[in-house]
Amino acid sequence: MTAYNLKKSELINIIQGLKTFNPPKIRYEQYITDAITTADIFFHIGFEQQDLENRIVLDLGCGTGNLTVAAALMGADHVIGLDVDPDALAICKENVKSLELDTKVSCIQADLQKEDLREIISRSWRSDDWGEFSPETIVTVTNPPFGVKVRGADTIFLKQALKVSSVVYSLHLAHPKGRDFLNQKISQLGARVDLIFPLSLVLKHTYHFHSKKQKRVTADLYRILPLTE
Ligand SMILES: C[S@@+](CC[C@H](N)C(=O)[O-])C[C@H]1O[C@@H](n2cnc3c(N)ncnc32)[C@H](O)[C@@H]1O
Repeated sequence: MTAYNLKKSELINIIQGLKTFNPPKIRYEQYITDAITTADIFFHIGFEQQDLENRIVLDLGCGTGNLTVAAALMGADHVIGLDVDPDALAICKENVKSLELDTKVSCIQADLQKEDLREIISRSWRSDDWGEFSPETIVTVTNPPFGVKVRGADTIFLKQALKVSSVVYSLHLAHPKGRDFLNQKISQLGARVDLIFPLSLVLKHTYHFHSKKQKRVTADLYRILPLTE
């Protein structure tokens, strides 16, 4: 299945059928991107932005692999899913295997708070298949932790992503102050916001302190470009 023969409804069904965190770990702020939002994101990135074909997609904080699987099905050359949590990665690998995407997806365990992403990527880079390492080839997609448990975790993900990518897509809850803050952070990181794609995210009851079965929240997908001299 490629971007050219997969309907949005089919992608949604596939993502809905994936296994998810069991149980989610609050210290890593684990929650999944719902299937409809995942499909909206990848139809935007793949068709409107043309950012999947001939690209290696890096999914930072891939969790159980919703975004990783969608990128692989929507036409990325290869997808690297990276997460700190070996339990989440084991489920991600199961999901990848069940869809026979093993040859298109690699899973890496690493802590973005502790390790340099350039080093992580250079030791996993397959030059024989992908050519010399170049940020030009890499598009990063991330739904980072909100930064509630580890302050500034979302900014660390962005900083790391910008070291190795030509384009970064990052998902954040939408509110005007958040937009100002992120715009400022992104320019401090030597990059600029190219566009903001508004989304409506469904947050399912994940932790004991969530009072509702599910909640709809507005979110922004940022397309971020490093500044070139
Ligand atoms: C909000 S979840 C997103 C999961 C998945 N990408 C999705 O959208 O459905 C954030 C993910 O970041 C991972 N994470 C948290 N801290 C991390 C770190 N320091 N290094 C790498 N991954 C981390 C968590 O384990 C979790 O899977």
